[in-house]
Amino acid sequence: MHVGKKPRQYHSMENNLIKVTVIDREGLEHCLDAPTDMSMNMMEVCKSHELPVEGICGGMALCASCHMYIISDHILSEPSEDEENMLDQAFFVKANSRLGCQIKITEEIDGLIVKLAPVSVE
Ligand code: FES
Repeated sequence: MHVGKKPRQYHSMENNLIKVTVIDREGLEHCLDAPTDMSMNMMEVCKSHELPVEGICGGMALCASCHMYIISDHILSEPSEDEENMLDQAFFVKANSRLGCQIKITEEIDGLIVKLAPVSVE
């Protein structure tokens, strides 16, 4: 009897997943699956993959512990006033700085590459 090829295994949420790359503070790249249908943001995706992003304020743009640099040339939505105010007070801010908690996981950011900003020690 002919036995067919084993079916390919697909991730159950394949259609709702994008890939993002996070470069940690040691320079290691982590290619992560990020779901577009769970109202997640980059801070939460990093935390869910146990990367060292604290997210102290829970995503309210009030702590900058999710500060990251946008490395790829994706055009993200403009930062809100709250995000800009927080970045004004953060350390190590660059032109490509964003708060990870304000970057929503959507299809538009598929392939996004970010680098975690240094942890500020006060
Ligand atoms: S988690 Fe606090 S500003 Fe992003």
